Order: sequence, then C-alpha cells, then structure tokens
Amino acid sequence: MTDTLNILQHVDKEQQYLNLLPQLASLVANEPDVIANCANVVAALKDTFQFFWVGFYRAIDQNLVLGPFQGPVACTRIMFGKGVCGKSWQQATPIIVPDVNQFPGHIACNSLSKSEIVIPLIINNQVVAVLDIDSLRLDDFDAVDSLYLQKVVDLLTDGFGH
Ligand code: SME
Repeated sequence: MTDTLNILQHVDKEQQYLNLLPQLASLVANEPDVIANCANVVAALKDTFQFFWVGFYRAIDQNLVLGPFQGPVACTRIMFGKGVCGKSWQQATPIIVPDVNQFPGHIACNSLSKSEIVIPLIINNQVVAVLDIDSLRLDDFDAVDSLYLQKVVDLLTDGFGH
C-alpha cells in the first residue's frame, strides 16, 4: 500500500491524473471498507489538485447524505433532484458547472465556490453516491476532469456494491 502520495510538479492536469490513478488503485485495492477508501480518495484529490472542496455524498432513501470530504463544512443532506448533486443523481450523469451562479437551483454550501463538477457512482443502473468537487476559480473543470474522475469513482464500485 502507498502511504505517501507522489505528486508531480509542473505537469498538466492530465499527467497529474495519470500519475494519481495507479496510486489510488493501490490505496483502495486491499481495503474493503468503502468509507475508508472514499476518505483516502478525497484526501488524495485535495492534495494533488488543491481543490477548494472534495467530497462524497451517498444516496440514502431520498437524500444524498454527506460522506468523507476535505474542505470547509458542507450541507449534510441534499434532496433528490436538488442542486447540482441532486441533479446529477436524478439524471445519472456527470455535470460540469462553469459558473455556479448560472446554475438554477445550485446549493451554495460555501459562497466562495465558483465552479463545480459532480460525478455519479453508478452500480446496477443505480446512483449510490456522487463525487462533488468545488473550485474557487470559474470554469475550472472540463472533459479531462470528467474522464479521469470517472475512472477514480470506478475504483470504488466494488466497495459500494458490498
Ligand atoms: N453545490 C452543491 C452542494 C454541495 S456543496 O458544493 C459541497 C450542489 O448544488 O448540489
């Protein structure tokens, strides 16, 4: 198991993701507890990219319930279909929001957040959790983030399936 993260300096974010993914795979490989794995994944993403807020919400009944995260305190429950996270859950698709103030119904857990990406974790056609990342900068997420963050959440499907 890796217990020190190797973070590349002065490379683009695709290289950062490519460097990070095998380390995350190794981190979660032998640990069956999904909360422990989510906790390490959000810590690694925060350390690597210095995102403002990174965390998981788990789908429990009609709510997304706050899970492991790094960053300022956040809303604990988000209803189905509400906010960016609830919409991603409802639509079972990733959502990139370049400017949170332009997203109808955006839930502002923290007014400093400017842009956001949400990736749903889907098992057997059901969203079981979402990965939510907030940035202090406008337009901070694109298809590269979506592609590699999907691979990150895919590392966790075994744990959520149990
Ligand atoms: N902005 C999110 C709420 C979660 S926080 O950003 C941590 C939303 O609209 O669903």
